[in-house]
Amino acid sequence: MIESNHSQEDDQASPLDAAQSTGEDAGLDQNLRPVNLDEYVGQAAVKENLRIVMQAAKQRGETLEHLLFYGPPGLGKTTLALIIAREMGVNIKITSGPAIERAGDLASLLTNLNQGDVLFIDEIHRLNKVVEEVLYPAMEDYALDIVLGKGPGARSIRMDLPKFTLIGATTRIGLISSPLRDRFGATWRLEYYTPEELQQIIQRSAKILGAKIETQASLKLAQRSRLTPRIANRLVKRVRDFAQVNGHDTITETVVNDALKLLEVDELGLDKNDRRILEALVHKFSGSPVGLSTLAAATGEEEDTITDVHEPFLIRLGLITRTPKGRQATTAAYQHLGVTAPPSGSQQKSLL
Ligand SMILES: Nc1ncnc2c1ncn2[C@@H]1O[C@H](COP(=O)(O)OP(=O)(O)OP(=O)(O)O)[C@@H](O)[C@H]1O
Ligand SMILES: [Mg+2]
Repeated sequence: MIESNHSQEDDQASPLDAAQSTGEDAGLDQNLRPVNLDEYVGQAAVKENLRIVMQAAKQRGETLEHLLFYGPPGLGKTTLALIIAREMGVNIKITSGPAIERAGDLASLLTNLNQGDVLFIDEIHRLNKVVEEVLYPAMEDYALDIVLGKGPGARSIRMDLPKFTLIGATTRIGLISSPLRDRFGATWRLEYYTPEELQQIIQRSAKILGAKIETQASLKLAQRSRLTPRIANRLVKRVRDFAQVNGHDTITETVVNDALKLLEVDELGLDKNDRRILEALVHKFSGSPVGLSTLAAATGEEEDTITDVHEPFLIRLGLITRTPKGRQATTAAYQHLGVTAPPSGSQQKSLL
């Protein structure tokens, strides 16, 4: 059974936003989610490790250890948590760091779990300090320390909790305090997907959606999916809409190209927002290193969105680098935008 008190702040999401699921699409996303490890494409090392820890816990009749997943948005962290609960045959309760405001909120979540259940905390780096401290004994000793009364007469009692599994997910491993990190039995990083893996995901999703897609078209789409399954699924749905409205019964390479042109997704899979960041670095700052807050102000983008969504992808493609002085466009970025790069060395000086 899945319960959720996760608040979805997805009102302003664009159809291609890597970080969010919106309205009708959120329902479709549920249908496209793989339900077991065999259907879960890629991430071979994580899957292999997971199979071992799950089987070992089952054989010993024990509760699974606490697990932490990290990596950019849309790579399949929540999906893995759902698969784990299903494969372990336990309930999962889904919440997120910012949704747990007070220690009491966490206490009520924990006391309502059954032995073996999974508590999934998304955006776990956003838990506040007070709540985090309640979590330490809960994770380590399956115990809740409750303070009764106030002032000098206050006393603390310890309450036992069922043995549960905490699964945490974060896009920012660096913001997790080491006491919290140390209490997880294993921490795994999810990697960006290869075009071949994304192609598999696209073909599976197209089948579920009842859309016919040519092999070559699925590869083209995969190459422009920001190395991310969520984006791949988003693009399949948009391209399917485009094909339907234009009277094509099969998604061909031409359909993909035309649809992506309309969606403003370029050859490398960059969307408008990725390009706005690159263009700012190249045009507004003439290739000099730029601090995060300056870049956010120049592009009208949230700082968190730049660091979580755009930056890892642009760095991965080799279009920007992070120097001690800030973010900087590379020669490849200039080439991609069709702009002549300043002679090397001049980038650093131009704003001084
Ligand atoms: N390995 C995979 N194989 C097939 N589909 C996948 C895989 N990983 C993710 N997906 C698809 O991508 C979508 C996004 O995955 P998911 O919600 O698990 O990402 P996430 O890492 O939790 O993202 P966020 O950081 O934004 O919470 C899912 O709905 C699922 O359909
Ligand atoms: Mg998630």
